[in-house]
Amino acid sequence: MDSANHLPDDIHRLAYHIMAPANWINDPNGLVQYKGEYHVFYQHHPDSPKWGPMHWGHVKSKDLVHWERLSIALAPSEAYDRDGCFSGSAVVDDHGVLTLIYTGNIWMKEDQSELKQYQCAATSTDGVTFVKDPANPVIAEPPFDCCGHIRDPKVWKHEDQWYMILGTREGNHGKVVLYRSKDLRSWNYIGIAAESDGTLGYMWECPDLFRLNGKDVLVFSPQGIEPQGDKYNNLHQTGYLVGNLDYQTGKFQHGGFEELDKGFDFYAAQTFHDEQGRRILIAWMDMWESYMPTQTKGWGGALTIPRLLELTPENKLLMKPVPELELLRKEHDHAQSIEVTPLQSDYLSHIKGDCLEIVAEFSLAACDASEFGIKVRCSEDYTEETVIRFDVNDSAVIFDRTRSGIGEEGIRRAFLDVSGKKSIKFHLFVDRSSVELFVNDGELAMTGRIYPNSSSNKVDIFAEGGCVQVLSWNSWKLKDIWIEARK
Ligand code: FRU
Repeated sequence: MDSANHLPDDIHRLAYHIMAPANWINDPNGLVQYKGEYHVFYQHHPDSPKWGPMHWGHVKSKDLVHWERLSIALAPSEAYDRDGCFSGSAVVDDHGVLTLIYTGNIWMKEDQSELKQYQCAATSTDGVTFVKDPANPVIAEPPFDCCGHIRDPKVWKHEDQWYMILGTREGNHGKVVLYRSKDLRSWNYIGIAAESDGTLGYMWECPDLFRLNGKDVLVFSPQGIEPQGDKYNNLHQTGYLVGNLDYQTGKFQHGGFEELDKGFDFYAAQTFHDEQGRRILIAWMDMWESYMPTQTKGWGGALTIPRLLELTPENKLLMKPVPELELLRKEHDHAQSIEVTPLQSDYLSHIKGDCLEIVAEFSLAACDASEFGIKVRCSEDYTEETVIRFDVNDSAVIFDRTRSGIGEEGIRRAFLDVSGKKSIKFHLFVDRSSVELFVNDGELAMTGRIYPNSSSNKVDIFAEGGCVQVLSWNSWKLKDIWIEARK
């Protein structure tokens, strides 16, 4: 159980995002609603702020917003998971038993250059303590030579059978393979559901397949896609393919690959279906090998806010903050019809904060600026600031963390189609070391970690090369759920 005296004391500890009580965290795992409560597990190294032997950390919530820490659910202990309980998913089986399906990792060489991976199960009837299954490993051998890399089982039920997809590789091609089972223990290999055509990376991690709006969607995290202009600029990507899975042949026919979040820090996303019939996604809010200044303070890594997925008739996945996040709202500020000119600043000097939700609508009709946007986490003199800007000529949204503090710098740009639109809406979630941006009701999402000074709390709006009108501004200070949890 969480022990308050181990909690890192750091200005960048997040207020309302899922983090471990201390030390390292990466992928979200086992997202599920069980006995009416939401459970989130995560890859966790409880002994160090760096990645190492993986455990499954665990939190649960009644409302997707206030999280309660539970004891570690899975730890390496057996011959098949000796060096790590890697990522996986959760289902409630036919008898109401919460079942985790995960990858057991074994290093075959001391320098970790060779590995073997087994798929394993663990069960719980109280949603708190888990027992590894006597049938483990439930899948012991890969279906082809994948140099040991086969992991991250995502399990779901279709008609009266269970299905599992796994991320893997063959040579330099990332792939996803499909299995079928009647009882979650004995699995039959069906085939390769989808694979890289040579442009989509050498290894596919964390696959997740689900039905939405009459189509099948495959979300996965390919490694090794080359950058192309504004696209694929992070070390690894997370994106999706939309199509149809043939459950007989196992083949997934699909369209083109699209990145899911076009910011800096978003990886290993996983989804689940909740009792309200919603498809909700949570991702790791970091990127492999990025510099994490918090590691010297005893922790590293966090998860994104829960996001609602919707699929448009054009096969575009929209990602929006879940409405429950409104429970975090405290003091509200509202303004409308603000004329923003290039010569002025400090439009919103009465608003300050490091934990904020902002919804701002900028007019495209009343605009002759070449760029406009919002600045958050600004110091008094703006030498430190995180900028979200719209480049009118290129129709591109830019997340600029060049001057955001002590973390990694740079910009991410993403095209936004505004043809026929009279305005553009920015919806921002700012926490002590993160910014999550949603544009035009989920059409575009951009996420980034930032590490500003704790006194950099100003917020502003700006225009360059001309003027813009802010049609409406709404912002809220947001609660710190972890302080509440410690009370
Ligand atoms: C993705 C990943 C998974 C693996 C886990 C190990 O970030 O590499 O493929 O199961 O992290 O922690």
